[in-house]
Amino acid sequence: MRFNDMPVRRVTSVALLLLSLLLTPHITFADGDFGLLDHRGNFHQLSRYRDHAAVIVLPFSYKDEASLRLAEQVSALAPQLAEQTVLVWLLNASDEPALIRSRTASPGNFPVLIDSSQTVAKTLDVKHLGEFLILDPISMGVLYRGFDDISLLEGVLTEALAAKSIGRPSRLEQSTDALDGTTLTYRFIEQLAGRKISYQTEIAPLLKARCAYCHVENGLAPWAMNRYIMVLGWSPMMREVVITRRMPPGQIDNSVGNWQNTHELSDEEMALLVEWIDQRGPREAGESDPLAEPLPVATEWPRGQPDLIIDVPEQFIPATGNIDFLVKRVALDLPDDRWVSAIAYQVGDKSVLHSLLVYAVDKSMQSTDPDDMIAGEHAEFISVYVPGESDDAFGEQAEYLLTKNKDLVFKLRYLTSGRETLDRTRIGLYFSNGTPERRIRTLALEKPEFTIPANTAMHREVMESEPLASDMLLESYSPHAHSRGRSMAVSVRYPDGREEALINIPNYNYNWQLAYRTAEQKLIPAGSVFKVETVYDNSASNPFNPAPEQTLGQGYRADSEMFSHFIRMVE
Ligand code: HEC
Repeated sequence: MRFNDMPVRRVTSVALLLLSLLLTPHITFADGDFGLLDHRGNFHQLSRYRDHAAVIVLPFSYKDEASLRLAEQVSALAPQLAEQTVLVWLLNASDEPALIRSRTASPGNFPVLIDSSQTVAKTLDVKHLGEFLILDPISMGVLYRGFDDISLLEGVLTEALAAKSIGRPSRLEQSTDALDGTTLTYRFIEQLAGRKISYQTEIAPLLKARCAYCHVENGLAPWAMNRYIMVLGWSPMMREVVITRRMPPGQIDNSVGNWQNTHELSDEEMALLVEWIDQRGPREAGESDPLAEPLPVATEWPRGQPDLIIDVPEQFIPATGNIDFLVKRVALDLPDDRWVSAIAYQVGDKSVLHSLLVYAVDKSMQSTDPDDMIAGEHAEFISVYVPGESDDAFGEQAEYLLTKNKDLVFKLRYLTSGRETLDRTRIGLYFSNGTPERRIRTLALEKPEFTIPANTAMHREVMESEPLASDMLLESYSPHAHSRGRSMAVSVRYPDGREEALINIPNYNYNWQLAYRTAEQKLIPAGSVFKVETVYDNSASNPFNPAPEQTLGQGYRADSEMFSHFIRMVE
């Protein structure tokens, strides 16, 4: 069946023809991994579906009837495709993200992937709405590319899967040149088409703001982004890490809540960077290199001299291998209770320390069992060290009361860097004089017991808080899990029964123990209940999972999991 009876625009005008020439990518990236959020806020990454036979991608727009009808036709095949473990993703690189999210019912109930930077469509070399692509989640290549004739789908899918099963990668690409479907307008690239992208004034400043402060010499990142040639050499890898949303780290769903930093590149930044990489990183003669400018010399304590400096017990880190989480206690000897306004981190060796959680524990708690030290009533989570940042200041005029009956406990995570080292990290506490106007409280929603079955891709654990006894202002939030953590979410149920999503972390990565700060402190009235959720992926498709055949319970070590949500509020 063809769609000749439908109102489709034909590619006839010279302008469009010229445009399509301009759009011809300098490098074709029809293969490769990618990750996108869907209209419900779930994250989908091709390589995480290795246990599926194939993924069908249908580029469509709600404003293009032909492609929409095609998607609806595929939905008739949904039961059969599910049986074959074939996924269907609707790729929307055309409509406004807000419009896509507002359509809660999608054709076939398939996830609608929001490609608002159009970089995934570009990677897959999509030219028209109404094309369909069959992707192999293992090789991440295109098994088949066809268009606007869904009656072919069953046949080509069978053929593609048969070819794949005998290890003969089939590349059955129908030429889409003669396609009647609507051309996908690459609006960002169109804007760039008439001019050259400048390394000096566009790319280097973007990288400086978004990447280079972590990618420093002897930092945690494996390479320093400190000159053009480094960027050029790493550019294929840079493309991959931005397209899969691995970098910048800690990205959350920016449509939920109001947070200071959601860590993603904007659509414009993403499109610009990817296009520059695809043009093989041009740099005009005579352009200077802002990345090569020397960095300001770091002062020892950027906030000024702390009132109390505490040595984190030093750790010998071998050159290679995995290091389990460590839990270390340091006795404090405060003469009086103290109000703390900020905590600063002076990391000994930034190339190995990946996260550091700080807890205050009652001196009376004498157990030396690490699990006891960081859980239960006697332990209070205070702060987390975030790579790339040097301190954690509490909200305006709000302070944390560190009572004199407390010790500090640290939960540390190290990576090895290829060379032996001794990490001597210190933390600095800043005390305030007098009693503050407001007090910091951290609500820790943690589960002392739960079980995650072996080989399970989606294991969900949820918990509700007690109703809040008084009005509170939401200040920041830190989620914590280990390698099986897949996604996290927090919502609130107000006393009138209304529910509101506060944060959605759709692609949690345990290497990034971040604290997310609200852009404005948000009032959570007395009587409200927090609802928190962690989804774990204990399947072989989780790239961080060392042992999918293991059943996991609660524990601080890497061969167990944690369910921790720390909600910091101002009282
Ligand atoms: C908060 C610190 C931080 C920021 C910001 C950051 N990176 Fe990274 N990057 C890292 C660390 C740490 C690693 C190595 C560990 C990992 O992969 O998580 C890394 C790894 C990489 C790698 C190598 C991946 C590999 O598999 O070898 C590339 C490429 C990269 N980053 C590019 C970027 C780009 C491009 C940006 C900005 C758009 C960026 N990074 C922003 C910290 C950062």
